[in-house]
Amino acid sequence: MKAVEITNNIFWVGAIDWGVRDFHGYITPSGTTYNNYIIMDKDITLLDTVKYDYSHETIKNIKTLTDPSKIKNVVINHIENDHVTSLEDIMYLAPHATIYITEKGKKGLDKFFDTSKWNIKVVKTGDTLNTGSKTLLFLETPMLHWPDSMMTYIKEDKVLISQDAFGQHIASSVRFDDELINCESITFLDDGVIDYYANILMPFGQLIKAKISDIQKLGLEIEIIAPDHGIIWRSNPKKVIDMYLDMANGKADESVAIIYDTMWHSTEAMTIPIMQGIKDEGLKCKVVKLRATPMSVAIKEFWKSRGCLVGTPTLNNIMYPSVAEFLTHLRGLRPKNRIAGAFGSYGWGGGAVRDAYEEFKKMGLEIVEPGLQVLYKPSHEDEQKCYAFGRDFAIKVKEYHKKF
Ligand code: FEO
Repeated sequence: MKAVEITNNIFWVGAIDWGVRDFHGYITPSGTTYNNYIIMDKDITLLDTVKYDYSHETIKNIKTLTDPSKIKNVVINHIENDHVTSLEDIMYLAPHATIYITEKGKKGLDKFFDTSKWNIKVVKTGDTLNTGSKTLLFLETPMLHWPDSMMTYIKEDKVLISQDAFGQHIASSVRFDDELINCESITFLDDGVIDYYANILMPFGQLIKAKISDIQKLGLEIEIIAPDHGIIWRSNPKKVIDMYLDMANGKADESVAIIYDTMWHSTEAMTIPIMQGIKDEGLKCKVVKLRATPMSVAIKEFWKSRGCLVGTPTLNNIMYPSVAEFLTHLRGLRPKNRIAGAFGSYGWGGGAVRDAYEEFKKMGLEIVEPGLQVLYKPSHEDEQKCYAFGRDFAIKVKEYHKKF
């Protein structure tokens, strides 16, 4: 690879991770990139670093533009490992550089590294750094998605270095949205945005709205959004901002996701008439079998639909473990604006459907009760009940969807 100019002497110098499939438990079927950027101005300024395994890659890219020892400033927008663990290698090559970071970022940096020899300047929202011909404006974005997080806006070029926000886990030979749409599809890119939001940013919808509103109040024009993962938005940055606002405001498809697991195919057999009932009410239905599907994909499918039905057999009087794992994961993401229900088969005393509703109640989701339980295996009569259950749930989803 070599450095890629995104505009007026601002270059991408990051790394592409084609092979990562498990990103701290988040399954990434399309790999990812670790994006960082360098401003080739009077004072050469590096914005973020990359994951440690790719230090050599970003250093090689930087060397296509300059001797790394000439780096004057290093801006650290976020201290999670995938963006900061090559900082030591950078500072070894540019020991006199000054690091710009938030107060909470510095506290983290002090834990990760021996920072005693580094020049570190703590910055807050509104602080600026002049690099010669460019002005960098720092914007703290706490809890988007870590306490230390911030973004950097380059005023003269209207470029927002947005750190994790607006990113996607997509490894590609191209760097920009218009290029990706040409070689993949717009759906592929949109899906990458939704997947990232659902799995990382779902809990922070209100903060996202507030922070976007803050940026809009500052009157900052944005022509390019350059995130720390995936594709850079240069043809239509407004599109991803609108997608974020829509998702934060509760936008979802008027559809149902059936997310289930099964022991001996009885719960699975229930999904077919339930799905038919949903479809006969005119709604799209996505069916996801948990142990056959990465957790992050199940979370994304939950997030895309207004309604979710969870199917779980009872095992030892409680939920099936893979379903419990899904619901635990989901609860941590604090979902909102979704309606849910549960069904499942049992052999002895039941209990799984009850447990699923308890989880939904902890999440504060709208629920449709009662759920549906079937002893051992659905009979013809049970299948008719499943069909009616699916239709009834779809009607409730349509009613609930009108609120948005
Ligand atoms: Fe890409 Fe929060 O790290």
